[in-house]
Amino acid sequence: MKFFIDTAEIDEIRALSKTGMVDGVTTNPTLIAKSGRKFMDVIAEICDIVPGPISAEVTATEADAMIKEGRKLAKIAKNVAVKLPLTVDGLTACKTLRNDGTMVNVTLCFSAAQALLAAKAGATFISPFVGRLDDIGQDGMELIADICEIYGEYPDFATEVLVASVRHPVHVVQAAKLGAHVATLPPKILRQLYDHPLTDKGLAAFLADWAKTGQSIL
Ligand code: E4P
Repeated sequence: MKFFIDTAEIDEIRALSKTGMVDGVTTNPTLIAKSGRKFMDVIAEICDIVPGPISAEVTATEADAMIKEGRKLAKIAKNVAVKLPLTVDGLTACKTLRNDGTMVNVTLCFSAAQALLAAKAGATFISPFVGRLDDIGQDGMELIADICEIYGEYPDFATEVLVASVRHPVHVVQAAKLGAHVATLPPKILRQLYDHPLTDKGLAAFLADWAKTGQSIL
């Protein structure tokens, strides 16, 4: 399973990419606004740090304008994945940008029917938002199960399931059990995946016992 990180904060991206766990980065207009920086500059910088797919979202809502914006974003670097919303215009633009050879991440997916359309449009990634479904009393992970099942029926579909709006480590484990290809994680959640109190307790005990030996490895 690939891990993308869901942030536009350069310091976080730089720090986490050193762990070897970061396969890509997703941004959205909200994350760009939060960074307080210029969109194109941030994307270019992220593309330099992480060689994997870097999602950059268009803000036009009409297909032709989405294509123009998408082509401009794709010129920033080879690893840009243009992010398009799951609308009629978004999926129309998806077809064209995919024909250009550009990676496309179709975002704001909330139903299996939408995911089916995105695969037919040739999306590189489909981003179902599990947390936002949970927030309104639906089961986000059930959507991931449905999409994985449907895509599994059609080996010709090359679209990868990118689990988005992840709120806690349990989402990540559940998505992995379902065989989702990618999860995009806020930095805090990637860090939480490492944590277990028994790891901390066990390490403290080992180090205390080692100190008693008076030895050193180096
Ligand atoms: C990533 O591509 C999505 O934009 C992001 O995961 C949305 O997360 P949120 O629901 O926490 O805003």
